[in-house]
Amino acid sequence: MNRKKFLQSLLGASAFLTMPVSSFSKDNEDVLQLIKNTSKNTSGNMFGFKADPIKKVKVGIIGLGNRGNTLLEMFQWLTENKHAEIVALSDLQENKVIKAKEKLSKWQKAIPTTYYGKEDAWKKLAEQEDIDLILITTPWEYHTPMSIYGMKQGKHVASEVPIAYTLSDCWNLVETAEKTRKHCIMIENCCYNEEELFVLNMIENGVFGDITHTEGAYLHDLRAHMLSTDYYQDQWRLKHHINRDGNFYTTHGLGPISFYLSIGRGDTYSHLTSMSSRELNLSDTAKKMKSPYTKFKCGDMNSTLIKTEKGKTILLQFDVHTGRPYSRINKVVGTKAVHDGYPSRLYIEKGEPVFWGHKWLPKEEYDSYRTKYMHPVIKKLKAISQSFKQGHGGMDFVMIYRLIRCLNLGLPLDINVYDSVMWSAVTPLSEISVASKSLSVPFPDFTGGSWRENSSSNIMNLTE
Ligand SMILES: NC(=O)c1ccc[n+]([C@@H]2O[C@H](COP(=O)([O-])OP(=O)(O)OC[C@H]3O[C@@H](n4cnc5c(N)ncnc54)[C@H](O)[C@@H]3O)[C@@H](O)[C@H]2O)c1
Repeated sequence: MNRKKFLQSLLGASAFLTMPVSSFSKDNEDVLQLIKNTSKNTSGNMFGFKADPIKKVKVGIIGLGNRGNTLLEMFQWLTENKHAEIVALSDLQENKVIKAKEKLSKWQKAIPTTYYGKEDAWKKLAEQEDIDLILITTPWEYHTPMSIYGMKQGKHVASEVPIAYTLSDCWNLVETAEKTRKHCIMIENCCYNEEELFVLNMIENGVFGDITHTEGAYLHDLRAHMLSTDYYQDQWRLKHHINRDGNFYTTHGLGPISFYLSIGRGDTYSHLTSMSSRELNLSDTAKKMKSPYTKFKCGDMNSTLIKTEKGKTILLQFDVHTGRPYSRINKVVGTKAVHDGYPSRLYIEKGEPVFWGHKWLPKEEYDSYRTKYMHPVIKKLKAISQSFKQGHGGMDFVMIYRLIRCLNLGLPLDINVYDSVMWSAVTPLSEISVASKSLSVPFPDFTGGSWRENSSSNIMNLTE
């Protein structure tokens, strides 16, 4: 059944495709079958897609809050080396645009065009003729409409995470990218972190044998950020926690894991089940901080279990309410080795199984693996990234470097539109499962079956 017919056939249930899910009980079986059997209205394949090389990538940035400012700084080396130029800046608020323009003037002579003051002023940026790439660093609700409008204006688009949080938006992104033949990348920076790339490189070199299980997470105490009235613009992030329940921030843990498991490149997600704990920590802090918002639907801890078509499992967790040290877990269990993150530890199976005494590798041996399997991308960029601002311990620079250099050279991007929506779709699917007592929910196949044919070899390849 194609998507149009699906929407027409589901009067009541179509709400959950186009909106965040708050309750889900009616006609479960029919609806779940339809999620699984829905297919694209287009027939393209953007795996391995290459656009014509762009000598100097002209960039427009929409959203100049916390994230927009960090990513702007990642362009210094690229603009100074004539690989990119920031030609336009946009935000709702004039003061943010002025500050970003001042910052940019420290390393770029050319003055960007600015757009601000109206909710849709960004459309003028998307229409600006000389722009090649639009970088979207706004609140979540704008990511899909800005990406789609940008592609329709003939631009490549790179959106912050998550690129979408409804199934309908996921389908629209795939269909627009296939129709317009434009890159649509969700810029998931954790895929470019040194530890995650070290693990990926070990996996690709057979150190783990065959993988059976992985665990990832976004465990980050954001209470102070979300409850503050001047951190996120208009407290946009807190508002999602008032009305929704599920895993809202899947991609920091799931992006790297999906590369480990060759998702979209020989394997794909089959189904998930999700459960949220009760909510205590955010409301308690809200009362202490005298916030006008004190009731939250989102549980403190969401745990989602995903099974892949080839039988691997993923445990994905989400908790931004609890006071605790930051973690993305980053666990990989294979037939020959196990990795655990925070802090990074490695176990290597050596010969026969033993009754006791299984231990993580001692520091010296761990360090030798770390050196031997340092990812080529990290090795190459170490020298540059030490002399410039890097963002999040280096991964933000590596990510923007890869994005711009792949566009310069006409190479496929590391993360394509299917990766972007598959990692993001876990949010609405987890919401459906949570709303229906952890019902097993199937994944739609956004790739139209091409995950079976693709090989894993095109991720993060160095070709320069
Ligand atoms: N990958 C990461 O490590 C990471 C880190 C932080 C944030 N993020 C993501 O970045 C995005 C932005 O988060 P943030 O912390 O910068 O939030 P923020 O509130 O600081 O910034 C959002 C900016 O978007 C602007 N904006 C809102 N509506 C707009 C519109 N219609 N047109 C133009 N500008 C508009 C706001 O004025 C604000 O300046 C979110 O999607 C978040 O998930 C990612």
